[in-house]
Amino acid sequence: MKNILVTGGAGFIGSNFVQYILEEKDDVFLVNLDLLTYAGNLENLKDLETDTRYQFVKGDIRDRELVSRLFDEYDFDTVVHFAAESHVDRSITDPEVFLTTNVLGTQVLLDAAKAHWKLEPDNKYSREYRAGVRYLQVSTDEVYGALGKTGMFTEATPLSPNSPYSASKASADLLVRAYYHTYGLPVNITRCSNNYGPYQFPEKLIPLMIHNAQQDIPLPVYGDGMQIRDWLHVKDHCVAILDTLERGRLGEVYNIGGNHEKANLEIVRLILNELQKPESLITYVQDRPGHDRRYAIDNTKIRSELGWQPSYTFEQGIHETIQWYLSNAEWVRRITTGAYQEYYAKMYNVSEEKGKPT
Ligand code: NAD
Ligand code: TYD
Repeated sequence: MKNILVTGGAGFIGSNFVQYILEEKDDVFLVNLDLLTYAGNLENLKDLETDTRYQFVKGDIRDRELVSRLFDEYDFDTVVHFAAESHVDRSITDPEVFLTTNVLGTQVLLDAAKAHWKLEPDNKYSREYRAGVRYLQVSTDEVYGALGKTGMFTEATPLSPNSPYSASKASADLLVRAYYHTYGLPVNITRCSNNYGPYQFPEKLIPLMIHNAQQDIPLPVYGDGMQIRDWLHVKDHCVAILDTLERGRLGEVYNIGGNHEKANLEIVRLILNELQKPESLITYVQDRPGHDRRYAIDNTKIRSELGWQPSYTFEQGIHETIQWYLSNAEWVRRITTGAYQEYYAKMYNVSEEKGKPT
């Protein structure tokens, strides 16, 4: 692993990963290709501006010419593909961009990796690739659909996505699988549970609830608030991705999860408690259409094959995360003005002034 292409490195998990890799590895050169959509924020990476091992490129993963040119210019041996439209609620309102970015964008990257890494690119029967190359698809447990009260997703669980977001991620996973089986492209897919931690955009549950609580505006809980997610600190996700790049068996899927199942309401109460805000701020709003009730990850494979395990307890991770948001109020303020206010008002059916969901 010498020349790495990271896509979506200005987003939440991507920016944590870029920082982590450059801390962990001295002898790498990393290009971060990111379109800087509403979710991309170069402020997350400002400490790297003078690092000669790092190069930012503003651009679209759907741009074949650009992606191919970057492969020529930087001779990547590793691709870590984070770039995506990532929010379920937005996918319900506007699914199309989820398909073009998450599915077609993935295909562009797979084609570029195949063209640049295959030893005999014009021989359709050849399955030989340069030594040491690898493409890693960052996916999600949501591709498996929803669970009832019991059970866990293993890597053998059939894909059964329920939202336009998870359907687009499952489609991308199937393309990655097909490029492995048909062309022998050296790939891995990782499927992680819900992440939390620094730099998460406040459209997602945890930073949204922290932000609203601090502003003393209502905390919109969908339905009865008893939906369950498995939560993992973003740094533990980054470690699992590096472990997979270094030791994962080619062609394999690895589930990543923290064994921290929590009901949404429990998390909202915990945040209010830590911020010393009243529970009367909780407001039950109409449920998300098609809302998945429960996700849970069986992480046996990555634990036993790669020796990975989460290092954060949920209690420690959530405490540090809340403190991070308190200490980075300026970061939050800059991304919650303008377009965010418009998004919030429309998504939660509130007046921009009052912030009250109906
Ligand atoms: P995010 O929305 O915070 O960041 C996405 C990044 O991709 C942004 O920087 C954005 O500018 C960039 N991007 C979007 N479209 C692009 C395009 N066409 N070309 C180039 N860049 C583009 O997302 P995240 O939460 O950091 O998630 C990263 C990846 O991890 C996604 O693939 C997501 O499906 C997956 N994932 C997320 C979670 C989670 O809990 N957040 C859990 C499991 C898997
Ligand atoms: P989210 O952070 O959007 O992640 P995902 O839908 O990918 O799991 O939501 C996490 C859970 O929190 C999910 O069950 C939906 C719920 N939720 C709310 O109750 N209110 C909110 O305002 C948001 C954003 C999420």
